[in-house]
Amino acid sequence: MLSVKFGLIGGGVMGEALLSRLLAADVYKSEEIIVSEPAIARRNFLAEKYRVNTTADNHQVFKSVSEVIFLAVKPQVFNQIAADFAAIGELQSSPMVVSILAGVTLGQLESAFTNLPVIRAMPNTPATVGAGMTAICGGSKVKPEQLKLAQQLFTVVGEVVDLPESMMDAVTGLSGSGPAYIAILVEALADGGVASGLPRAIANQLALQTVLGTAQLLAETKLHPAVLKDQVTSPGGTTIAGITALEAGGFRAAIINAVQRATLRSRELGEKA
Ligand SMILES: NC(=O)c1ccc[n+]([C@@H]2O[C@H](COP(=O)([O-])OP(=O)(O)OC[C@H]3O[C@@H](n4cnc5c(N)ncnc54)[C@H](OP(=O)(O)O)[C@@H]3O)[C@@H](O)[C@H]2O)c1
Repeated sequence: MLSVKFGLIGGGVMGEALLSRLLAADVYKSEEIIVSEPAIARRNFLAEKYRVNTTADNHQVFKSVSEVIFLAVKPQVFNQIAADFAAIGELQSSPMVVSILAGVTLGQLESAFTNLPVIRAMPNTPATVGAGMTAICGGSKVKPEQLKLAQQLFTVVGEVVDLPESMMDAVTGLSGSGPAYIAILVEALADGGVASGLPRAIANQLALQTVLGTAQLLAETKLHPAVLKDQVTSPGGTTIAGITALEAGGFRAAIINAVQRATLRSRELGEKA
């Protein structure tokens, strides 16, 4: 096989999200991409839909890719991928390995992919609709232009920040687990609407659009959240009555604790691995 630039190991949910957007943004062309995926139906689907090269053999990816090898398998499969790499011996080029495997550290990546530059990344589920938040950290062999390329890759599925690895557990606790907290917020808002007499479908629509619209307003105006809150809180009005109930229910503390607890759990899981 001719040398291809981008190899994707694991053509699942996250892998396809990135693949589709890399092609749409013209970062890579179909013929510059190879996807390794064990399930034949999935392989055929990806080949047909995106016109990319596919294989069931990870060795072929390691042998043919010149620029980036992107790991998007479940963390349990990591040791298998490392063994596939170890079986290859010398590579013709020196591609950068980018991993989104939750909990797999730079140290583990560097000892598995000896001599290759490695990047650890933590995206979140909204990446599947192009609205993700990804934190990346580079290993010791990563050059500045490679870090820039990794940022460019994740920019196609949302926003990217570059952080030290020591902050990855906190990233997991906030943006990694955050979509679940926000989903609960949307559900609770809608339940509140139903409790106050709104039909369910309307309550769901109002709740979702309120969360979406508020996030968009904050992002576009760059207003501090406290300033926005003050702007919609009139003396003796409805919003301050609602806020009083939120404070009585420990809303802020519950969210702060959620992020802290998830961060600790991420650290615990990392220590066990
Ligand atoms: N989803 C998220 O929001 C999110 C956020 C942060 C990080 N992550 C990380 O992203 C990674 C992928 O998650 P996902 O949701 O995309 O999982 P997924 O949909 O299960 O995708 C994994 C894919 O890898 C394939 N695979 C299994 N063994 C393989 C092998 N030996 N070689 C090549 N491919 C193999 C699987 O095929 P089969 O189905 O046939 O086994 C599957 O298509 C995980 O490590 C997760 O921790 C995900």
